[in-house]
Amino acid sequence: SQPYSLLLLPGDGIGPEVMRQVRRVIDWLAKKRGLEFKVEEALVGGASIDAHGVPLTDAVMAKAHAADAVLLAAVGGPKWDGLTFEKRPEAGLLRLRKEMDLFANLRPAVVFDALVDASTLKPEVVRGLDIMIVRELTGGVYFGEPRGIEDLGNGQRRGINTQVYTTDEIRRVARIAFELARGRGNKVCSTEKSNVMESGLLWRQEVTAVHKAEYPDVELSHMLADACAMQLVRNPKQFDVIVTDNLFGDMLSDEAAMLTGSIGMLPSASLGAPDANGKRKALYEPVHGSAPDIAGRDIANPIAMLLSFGMALRWSFGLHEEATLLEQAVQNVLNTGMRTGDIMQPGMAKCSTSVMADTILREMDKLTAG
Ligand code: NAD
Ligand code: IPM
Ligand code: MN
Repeated sequence: SQPYSLLLLPGDGIGPEVMRQVRRVIDWLAKKRGLEFKVEEALVGGASIDAHGVPLTDAVMAKAHAADAVLLAAVGGPKWDGLTFEKRPEAGLLRLRKEMDLFANLRPAVVFDALVDASTLKPEVVRGLDIMIVRELTGGVYFGEPRGIEDLGNGQRRGINTQVYTTDEIRRVARIAFELARGRGNKVCSTEKSNVMESGLLWRQEVTAVHKAEYPDVELSHMLADACAMQLVRNPKQFDVIVTDNLFGDMLSDEAAMLTGSIGMLPSASLGAPDANGKRKALYEPVHGSAPDIAGRDIANPIAMLLSFGMALRWSFGLHEEATLLEQAVQNVLNTGMRTGDIMQPGMAKCSTSVMADTILREMDKLTAG
């Protein structure tokens, strides 16, 4: 309910450039739709390291817990690449995910008609594609213990990470996937390496058990993760919802991004378990990173960030009409041939980050006029 409280974490690289455009959409919604947002902005990642020596302060962590929704643009960059893991910008993002218990990362990959030719794949392979990758986000090799780099004392060192999943971790993310499938194409493909990894075998067994007991109406299939990566480019339209672990989900969603034309197009929502009032903690972030190679030039594609805000409108605030309006505006603007560099096609008008957002806002004006 109003005011909707939002914590904005622009982060590093192109982060502030794309987050600035979200601010403008928030202002538009306040002015034109009479919605009341309580917006705070704070530092995360390299920006927080530079100011406070850590990638996420306890004060910002507390603000994140208190907000109805958190929006994060991107963290990281070459400036901080030499730091140890706990001190890196990425550690700030991982702490947010872990402490807010955001176990379900929803990464939709949708191909807009206007961008069918922007994909590196053949038009007929991607036209009309609409898949949802559900990535487990608080477990697996990202957080498993033991981890570290050990000195073996004989001139050798050993790097260690642990892939580990429990029954509950698998079951709760599987339920999210089945629930989502019921509202879409009613199909779930679960992906792991049960032929090589015990954690993968447990994954398959538990997903199968949840399916049998609670979601027998949904069509479930299993695929080994390597085969899934292959099928995703061979025939992506066979998929509806894909559910997978933290690491495979990271890789498969970057792969899926290229089906849509650019990683600059893909939004995501990271959700926690519902509290007593049915409200979930949530963090919204584009799938892309801080893109140091193009940062500071106002040329990044803001659409992944804007659509992430759209997911916040939908999932955290229940503002479905406004979310649809934003999505429709994005689609219409793409139809006019407006393009940032990453989705540029011959004969189309190349525009900056801010002009792309200008045009989307003007389209929202048009869609709501009269
Ligand atoms: P990246 O996503 O930042 O960039 C990969 C490529 O895609 C680059 O060529 C970049 O220019 C392009 N790209 C990305 N977003 C774009 C956009 N919105 N518009 C146009 N082009 C875009 O991945 P990377 O280069 O592997 O990583 C850079 C840094 O970002 C690293 O420090 C990494 O850890 C971090 N990272 C952060 C997040 C996050 O904060 N959620 C996600 C991924 C990577
Ligand atoms: C992502 C990113 C992050 C991840 C990094 C920056 C920690 O690649 O959100 O996809 O690996 O989860
Ligand atoms: Mn990633």
